[in-house]
Formats: sequence, structure tokens, C-alpha cells
Amino acid sequence: MIVHKKLTNGFEYIEVKNEAAEAKVALQGAHLFHYARAGEEPILWLSEASDFEAGKAIRGGVPVCWPWFGFNEDKTLPQHGFARTSSWEFVGSDEVDAKTTVLTLRLTHDEKTLQIWHYKFLLELKITISDKLSMELKTTNLDDKSFKISQALHTYFSVSHISEVAIKGLGKKPYLDALTWKKEIQNGDITFNQEVDRVYQEVDGEIVLSDKNRTLHIKNDGSSSVVVWNPWIEKTLRMSGMKPNAYESMVCIESANAFEDARVLQPREVHILRAIID
Ligand code: BG6
Repeated sequence: MIVHKKLTNGFEYIEVKNEAAEAKVALQGAHLFHYARAGEEPILWLSEASDFEAGKAIRGGVPVCWPWFGFNEDKTLPQHGFARTSSWEFVGSDEVDAKTTVLTLRLTHDEKTLQIWHYKFLLELKITISDKLSMELKTTNLDDKSFKISQALHTYFSVSHISEVAIKGLGKKPYLDALTWKKEIQNGDITFNQEVDRVYQEVDGEIVLSDKNRTLHIKNDGSSSVVVWNPWIEKTLRMSGMKPNAYESMVCIESANAFEDARVLQPREVHILRAIID
């Protein structure tokens, strides 16, 4: 079942339900903001205080950070790019079988995007909703000059409590600590007792999110960088769309092409960033 819905303020989203799972995807940002397997608790975290309003990024789910991750050199431009607050076109859906639904959305350049990012592009997001969640973000350079992108599928995972979480699979990997801008090497699993904001590099294997009653596996393709983030107490208080205790029930593991893993695309070249969560 696929239903196109609209809130009273005009905010539109697509609701999907099949035998294996259910999901909700906003047309603004192609933003997946709900995914749960049938009969199970949601896998994605969504802030109770999130806005669902034109021009404001939803706090939770999977924001699409593109064509830059983090801050642009021009600090007046929005953090994480313009894709997550742009109106995407819903291309269509495919009910492959009773347990698998595929949604495709796309964004292309227009006068507004060309003013802040001077390149012609096609960006397509394919979301497969099944007992696995699969996301495929495809960038095509439609310009006659090369461009550089950094990007992330900025997945917010719902957790029982942040103190119960361990992230495995990044041991011995180098990372840039975005709190100190120092390069470090990960020692063992990642656990949380303070703010964590790190860009892991040279990531080539599966990442495991181990929580009290659930274990999730994240497999990325077209990517060798992963961002791990929890804002902890003080940053949460400064952030939009977050309740004061929100940091306790979420953790972000972002499938990325960030910093040294940014990609240069020649005219007509295509790059696909893929994340599979199960
Ligand atoms: C993460 C960054 O990717 O996104 C954090 O590493 C940042 O530094 C977070 O705070 C959220 O960003 P925003 O723009 O959605 O508030």
C-alpha cells in the first residue's frame, strides 16, 4: 500500500506499508522519517519536537546531506547542503512483491540551486522498504565541468538508551575528531559517556550497532567514511527540534563521503552511495 499524504500546512509525504515493513518519506528532502519492520519498534529515531515545515530539516530519520557535508567554505550557506530542505520530485513506486516496495525521488538543478552551487546535476534517491532498509543515492554530473561533492545519508537510529549502545566494526580505523579537529585511531568499540562527533575514514567493512535488545548491521558501498555522532547534554540544548533528553534515545551512524572521502565527478560521471541496514 502506498498513500500520498498532506498535512494541513501543505507538508507532503508518502506512506508505505507492505507485509515486511512500513515507512514514511517526505517530499521535502526525500527525507525518510519512519521505518519499522512489521510488528517491531521503529529502527529510525524521530524527534518528538521535530518541525514538519517547508524550509526546515526534519530532526531524525535520514536527512540527505548533499552536495556538501558539514559546513561549506562559504559559512553563510546551510550546513549539510540544500538537498534536505529542497522539494524533490516523486518519480514513482514499485511494489516488487508483497514484502518489498521501492520508492524513487529526484532533485535537479534550478535557478535557486545554481545561485548557491554553480553546477547542473541530477540526484536520485531509491529507497527499498522491506525487512531490510536499502538506500541508494545517485549523483550524475550534468554539467560540462567537473564538480566535487561530499555527502551523507545521515541516519538517526533509535536506541533503548545511549548508555546501552556499542558500535562495532570501526576498531583501529583513523578518525577526525570534529570536537578537537585532531586525527585519532579508534581503540575497540565505540561507547558513549560524552559528546561524540567523529568522521571515520578507510572504512571497508560492516558496522554493527549493538543495543540492549537489538543488533543492527550497516553495510555501505561507494563510501569509505562513516560519521558517528551523539550531541550529549549541552549541544542538545542548543539544537533545533530536540527535547532536552533527546540525546539519550538516539545515535547517528552516517554513511558518508566526507572530508578526505569527498568525490570529484567529471561531466556525465555518476557516483552511487549505498547503505543497507538490517
Ligand atoms: C552531524 C555533525 O553530521 O550532524 C554534527 O557531525 C552536527 O556536528 C549534526 O551537529 C547535526 O547537524 P544539523 O545541521 O542537522 O543540526
